[in-house]
Amino acid sequence: MTAEREQVVELLKQAYWMEIETVMSYISNSINPDGVRAQEIRESLQEDIQEELGHAQQFGERIKELYGVVPGSLEFSASQSFLQPPEHQTDIVHVIKGVIEAETGAIEHYNKIVEFCDDKDLVTQDMVITILRDEEGHRRLFEGFLREYKAEGLA
Ligand SMILES: [Fe+2]
Ligand SMILES: [Fe+2]
Repeated sequence: MTAEREQVVELLKQAYWMEIETVMSYISNSINPDGVRAQEIRESLQEDIQEELGHAQQFGERIKELYGVVPGSLEFSASQSFLQPPEHQTDIVHVIKGVIEAETGAIEHYNKIVEFCDDKDLVTQDMVITILRDEEGHRRLFEGFLREYKAEGLA
């Protein structure tokens, strides 16, 4: 395995864990929030769970194609402090901001992979660009939700 390919695999493993943690966070945040206005957010996150899970699977497949091994659960360490359950389950702004932060983290990491793969691994690059577009869509949607709360002085 070339050093460059190993580096791509490491970047993909990090992406894989980000997706897995996002799935965990979106499951909890698609269930916990209370209130009439939380419903839209809950439904949106419910849909995203499947999409993020699909991303994790794609990252896993690509790790294998590059002769890496998809890591086991003991290698996982959490980092989404911003998507922990809020003190009050009606605090929907906390959830919206947390989602925006998670999506931004993914966007930054995936841009890094896209750049790294330039002239090195166009197949990984192509796959990550497609996933990157999904994350940009997710972030844009939640930025729209936040905008509504800001307009009403609630965020
Ligand atoms: Fe994702
Ligand atoms: Fe996403």
